Amino acid sequence: MNTKTVARLRDVSKHYLLGSVQVTALSALNLEVKAGAFTFVTGPSGSGKTTALNLLGAIDKPSQGSVDMLGQRFDELSDTQLTDFRCRHIAYIFQNFNLIPVLNVYENVEYPLHLMGLPKAARQERVTDVLDAVGLYDRAQHKPNELSGGQRQRVAIARALVKQPTVVLADEPTANLDSQTSRDVTALMQQMQRKFNTTFVFSSHDPDLIAMADEVYHLVDGQLTDIKRQEVPQ
Ligand SMILES: Nc1ncnc2c1ncn2[C@@H]1O[C@H](COP(=O)(O)OP(=O)(O)OP(=O)(O)O)[C@@H](O)[C@H]1O
Ligand SMILES: [Mg+2]
Repeated sequence: MNTKTVARLRDVSKHYLLGSVQVTALSALNLEVKAGAFTFVTGPSGSGKTTALNLLGAIDKPSQGSVDMLGQRFDELSDTQLTDFRCRHIAYIFQNFNLIPVLNVYENVEYPLHLMGLPKAARQERVTDVLDAVGLYDRAQHKPNELSGGQRQRVAIARALVKQPTVVLADEPTANLDSQTSRDVTALMQQMQRKFNTTFVFSSHDPDLIAMADEVYHLVDGQLTDIKRQEVPQ
């Protein structure tokens, strides 16, 4: 495994105001995402996992501290530059799949490539390749509601990987799947990591998924309580 750092949270805190009450979702968190690794954020409900992923994914901004990816600090970019950076470098996989219901499987996977402005031939090559890789090429014309939960999550994985992103952020990607399907989807993400050398950051409680982790950041009440690192042969 390459040990280059591709993204990082530096001393990041995030506070929300609920009426007049300040809620601290994250407190002075330092986190490094290594290239090609499976990095996990774990912890009980409300511990700040989704908040940490949203900050890394430039969906949300920290109250204190800074976030950077590929050496670029997000707070040095304008909103337009940040949108463009997100579009090129970051992909998301959600617990509830978030596919576009009126588009078929092929069109759902192709959609991010439209946003990136790729020409038709390049789009077709990439979509075909990635649908093949997740074993769903024969479902290309199906709408999301004609698929099982596991198939929908495989489409979401294909849609994330088709961008060839720097980082895939996956927030509890197996939480809505039964245990067998969850293991299949987990195995698929591992294959995809090997095939495309993709960097993944997960939030999860799923022991099968966490078993593949290179690094695990454990949060309690927005504070880092433990980091576990898997020794990887060089
Ligand atoms: N938009 C918001 N406004 C106010 N408080 C928020 C907001 N988003 C999150 N919080 C609070 O921040 C804390 C962390 O929330 P977060 O969603 O990151 O937790 P989580 O670890 O992902 O939990 P879960 O396992 O339930 O998904 C919680 O106390 C939550 O109530
Ligand atoms: Mg969450």
